[in-house]
Amino acid sequence: MKIQNSTKKLLYRIFQNYIRKHNKKLFISFFCMIIVSATTAINAWMMQPVLDDIFIKKDERLILIIPLVILLIAILKGFSSYFQSILMSFIGYKIVADLQNDMFRTLLKCDISYFSKTNSGTLISRFLADVGALSRGVHNVVINIIKDFFTLVFLIGVLFYHNSNLALISLFVFPLAIYPISRIGKRLRKISKSTQIGFGILTKRLSESLQGIKTIKSFNAEFIEQNKVEKEVDNIFQLTYKSSKVNSISRPLMETLGGLAIAIIIYVGGSQVISGTTTPGTFFSFLTALLMAYQPIKSLASLNATLQMAMASAERIFDIIDSKPNIVESSLTKDNLLKKNSSYDIKILNVSFSYPDDEKNILKDISIEIKKGEKIALVGYSGAGKTTLLNLLPRFYDVKKGKIFIEDVNIKDLSFNFLREHFSLVSQDIVLFDDTLKYNVCYGLSNITEKQILAACKKANCDEFIKKFPKGLNEIIGEKGVKLSGGQKQRIAIARAFLKNSPFLLLDEATSSLDSRSERKIQKSLTDLMKNKTSLVIAHRLSTIIDADKIILLHNGKIEDIDRHKNLLKKSKIYKNLYELQFKNTMK
Ligand SMILES: Nc1ncnc2c1ncn2[C@@H]1O[C@H](COP(=O)(O)OP(=O)(O)OP(=O)(O)O)[C@@H](O)[C@H]1O
Ligand SMILES: [Mg+2]
Repeated sequence: MKIQNSTKKLLYRIFQNYIRKHNKKLFISFFCMIIVSATTAINAWMMQPVLDDIFIKKDERLILIIPLVILLIAILKGFSSYFQSILMSFIGYKIVADLQNDMFRTLLKCDISYFSKTNSGTLISRFLADVGALSRGVHNVVINIIKDFFTLVFLIGVLFYHNSNLALISLFVFPLAIYPISRIGKRLRKISKSTQIGFGILTKRLSESLQGIKTIKSFNAEFIEQNKVEKEVDNIFQLTYKSSKVNSISRPLMETLGGLAIAIIIYVGGSQVISGTTTPGTFFSFLTALLMAYQPIKSLASLNATLQMAMASAERIFDIIDSKPNIVESSLTKDNLLKKNSSYDIKILNVSFSYPDDEKNILKDISIEIKKGEKIALVGYSGAGKTTLLNLLPRFYDVKKGKIFIEDVNIKDLSFNFLREHFSLVSQDIVLFDDTLKYNVCYGLSNITEKQILAACKKANCDEFIKKFPKGLNEIIGEKGVKLSGGQKQRIAIARAFLKNSPFLLLDEATSSLDSRSERKIQKSLTDLMKNKTSLVIAHRLSTIIDADKIILLHNGKIEDIDRHKNLLKKSKIYKNLYELQFKNTMK
């Protein structure tokens, strides 16, 4: 059987990283498998004394001993099977767990841009379907190679022990099967790849449809979703059916060859029994061993197919585990040049930026100086690049050209921990987890007392609505916080920022309009939050721009102007237009 180079490498890696550490269990399991194999062969061999000595010679001594031996062998086989099975299951499931943990660990380190490229459905399918397929494959391959191989060796031993000529005749037919079966393996690998891709698309479609159920209903678009999902389900059906069909091609081949071998044996062996050169016991023991050899030969023949399918999954799993982030921490951090959690000046110097895999510059030659304690507002039309600029400060993306400094330290020289601790980010789209309010408010923060949580909620004007929930802070808020209103979600995000209490505040004001009461509440919370902090606020509210020390007007990724509200209103057409459209009517 020709094993491809890539398969060898993958197998070596799986063995080194995921199997080898279980070598004790593996060894015991191998040992048990060999016992199982040997007992199978002994059972076949026992046919000879049973027939010849008990039935034909009518030996009364053996009538007790042989059944006893058979019973003992059965018990030995049973226990060995049991230990082999639990040990191999342990190793198999542990491989699943280790791979899943490794994948998730890498994913958390991946650049944010990786997730805009790779669909989350595809990723989830790799976590579940691919990891499962790989572990099943490894499990089967190990059992095939050890148990089936040794069973076969022992049974062939019995065949040769009894009648070597007959053994040669019966074994000569099987090599004929190897070529077509290895071809089948290759086809299965291809089908398996398409199947796993199909699972990825299906997961994506399902999660998209279920999350967008409101939009679907409001557009009466159920049938569109139904068609999309049906298409994927059907695709997977076709592929899995095809895979099973290809896999079954080996059956008629193996059955025919097996039948041929047995027919020849009965003809030749039967003639020998009739002529008296062989005893009936030897003949039946031979036949039993041959029949028993059928199953291990069959699974060894399909070994390549199993292996190929598992390797198709392994490739995709390691694809994830090997992905390397482009945004990395510098090995020599200069954290010690700055004090933890204190305010500094921020300098953005000639920064240009384009999203990965996209040539177009979204930000062009941006230079901004933010003095310690200042409140800077960032305004501009939708798509101007405001959120993009904000994302550069905590290094969610790295600048393409130019530099960003905190005091005199390039942010690339700071550790992620240190850098990100300095920024509180309240973003346009607030992400809440399906857990309690309390969990969401102090997410990612440690050593927070109940008192601090309550104080932060009060400052963010959350206390009122939290009290209305039957379980208060312990209320579970549902997926993405469905139980909260838009304004309530924003206030939770503000409460988080109060608790985090970082010296810099990055605020992407929500564009959604709220009623004047909650708008005023949010406004007040935000004003409190910004006190004694250096803040960069993407403004959608009049009060924010009027209070700002400086307003940066961003237009098509360039700084159009920097000034205060009144001056900009006088000199900038774009600003005047924005003001008329966006800010004039917002609540003060
Ligand atoms: N992940 C991304 N990959 C590629 N392009 C992106 C990505 N995110 C944003 N863009 C593009 O970058 C440009 C600026 O987007 P950005 O989100 O910074 O705008 P914005 O000024 O915050 O707009 P808004 O006021 O609507 O929030 C847009 O043209 C957008 O299409
Ligand atoms: Mg934005």
